[in-house]
Amino acid sequence: MTLPPLHEDLVFHGPMSSYRADLLVRSLAPLDGAHVVDLGCGWAELLLRTVAAGATGHGIDLDADAIAHGRKLASERGLSDRVTLEAGDASTWSGSADVLIVNGSTGLWGGDPVTHTVNALEAGRRFLRPGGRLLLGEGFWEREPTPEQLAAMPVPREQYGTVADLVDLAMAHGYRLLWLSQANQDEWDEFESGHAIARERRLLTHPSDDEVRARADRQREWRLKGWRGVLGMVYLTLVVPS
Ligand SMILES: C[S@@+](CC[C@H](N)C(=O)[O-])C[C@H]1O[C@@H](n2cnc3c(N)ncnc32)[C@H](O)[C@@H]1O
Repeated sequence: MTLPPLHEDLVFHGPMSSYRADLLVRSLAPLDGAHVVDLGCGWAELLLRTVAAGATGHGIDLDADAIAHGRKLASERGLSDRVTLEAGDASTWSGSADVLIVNGSTGLWGGDPVTHTVNALEAGRRFLRPGGRLLLGEGFWEREPTPEQLAAMPVPREQYGTVADLVDLAMAHGYRLLWLSQANQDEWDEFESGHAIARERRLLTHPSDDEVRARADRQREWRLKGWRGVLGMVYLTLVVPS
């Protein structure tokens, strides 16, 4: 399928604005000299902003095109000597970090979706030293989904709870909460529209591309009859106590 890569229409591969990214980078301080590892980094926009704030970085993503774009961004910003970006499976990574980012990518360890959040919380406990920070970007139910909404989207009800449930789960894994920030509707709409627009443009020039039409229609249904205003995204900055 000939579609331009997502990064042509989006700054972040998630419902995130530059304003929120700045808040989150600040919440991760001190970054000067810190080592930040981003698992499922996409094209690494957030990781690169931590590196610009003084950190060294390592990002891993399965998507080789996204990694190539991240390397180009790093080079354009003069950050290439302080960040490495790797195309590969982040689920096998092990090592230590001052900051671990798992943003919208808790599914990278696979398994039942109900276990995804816990997998990321456990990874943070394995790889972070006391004082280390985990930036966890994870879904939650902004509203209880109706049976009709649940039927319209490929997300099991049990995968997520409320924000309070998510913070309780993090506390139960031994973290303290440094910062909490939640994607707003504009950020969600930008993210979803960024997915949609390339497909719709393609259909204007190739109206018989049935595969692209099916994907565009499916995403619109998921979005408008399923998760819009119902599924939220929250960013928690968690710290491992000393
Ligand atoms: C919603 S995107 C989030 C990207 C990035 N964290 C951001 O916020 O811009 C999820 C990313 O996880 C990546 N991913 C999924 N499974 C992975 C795995 N096993 N190893 C590495 N990356 C993975 C996908 O390729 C995708 O780029």
